[in-house]
Amino acid sequence: MEESPPDRYGVVGFPVAHSKSPFIHGMFARQTAQNMEYRLYEVPPVAFRTEVGRFFAEGGAGLNVTVPHKVAAADFASELTPRAERAGAVNTLAMEKGRVLGDNTDGAGLVRDLTVNLQVELADRRVLVLGAGGATRGILAPLLEHGLEELWVANRTAERARDLVSPFSDLGKLRGCGYDELPVRPFDLVIHATSAGLEGNVPKINPAVIGPATVCYDLSYGKGDTPFVKWAWNLGCARAVEGWGMLVEQAAESFALWRGVRPDTAPVLAVLERPG
Ligand code: ATR
Repeated sequence: MEESPPDRYGVVGFPVAHSKSPFIHGMFARQTAQNMEYRLYEVPPVAFRTEVGRFFAEGGAGLNVTVPHKVAAADFASELTPRAERAGAVNTLAMEKGRVLGDNTDGAGLVRDLTVNLQVELADRRVLVLGAGGATRGILAPLLEHGLEELWVANRTAERARDLVSPFSDLGKLRGCGYDELPVRPFDLVIHATSAGLEGNVPKINPAVIGPATVCYDLSYGKGDTPFVKWAWNLGCARAVEGWGMLVEQAAESFALWRGVRPDTAPVLAVLERPG
C-alpha cells in the first residue's frame, strides 16, 4: 500500500538558516515513527501574514515561530492557549479543526529543562531574571507556577521591567527594577534573558547576585560558552548552563501538541552536546 504524503511542519523566522529545529524535529519524528516533514521558512516581517496564511491554506499542519515573529503569530492565531495569552507571544501554531491554534511552549521548555534535566529545585527559591523583552515575558508565568520564594526581573531600562511584571503580580511575589536596585546578595537561580550576548556583552549587574550556590542559566546558546556563562563561571557560581535544553524541550512540547506523542529529549540533547 502506498504511504500517504507526510504532514507538513516547519519553522518560520527571519533569519532562520541556522535554526536547529529541523534537526531536532527530524530526530523526534524518526524516534516516534511519525510521517511528517519539517522545513525552514525564511519570511520577512512584512510577508508574515501572507506566507503563514498560504502555508495553512495549502494544507500545512503546524509551524514553530521564532524571532522576530512571535507577537505577530499571536495576532495571526484564531485562538490562543492560556499560556500564549499570558505571554502575549506564540512559538507554536497548529491547525486544529480548521482553526489555527497559537501556543507558547518556551516557558514550559525552560521549566522542564531546569526541573527534570538539571534537577534544579524551584519551590521556595529566590530567582532573578535579567532582561525585560519578549523572552522574559514568555517565561514568567511558568516559573511563578512553581512556588518561588520571590522573582525579580531586572533590566537596563528599569521602567520596562516594572511595566512587564505588573500583569503577572497575581501569580506570586514579583518585582521589576533596574540593575542598580537589586539586592546585594546571591540569588539561588539567575536566568539571563537579554540580547546583550549577541554583541558579546553581559548586563552590567553587581556580581554579588551570584554566589557559590547560585545556578546560572542562559536562554541563549552558541558554539562555545556564551559571554554570560563565561562571566558566571568566573564569578564562582555552582553551575552555568546554556539554553540547549530549553530549545529541545520547547520543541518536544510543540511536537507533543502536534502529534499527540511526547518524544524522548535525552538522545537529542546528547547530540547537541550541552556544555556545562
Ligand atoms: P526580545 O523581545 O527578543 O527579547 P527585546 O524586546 O529587544 O528583544 O529585548 C531585549 C532585551 O535585552 C531587553 O531587556 C534589553 O534591555 P533594554 O530594555 O534596556 O533595551 C536587553 N539588552 C539588549 N542589549 C543589552 C545590553 N548591552 N546590556 C543590557 N541589556 C541589554
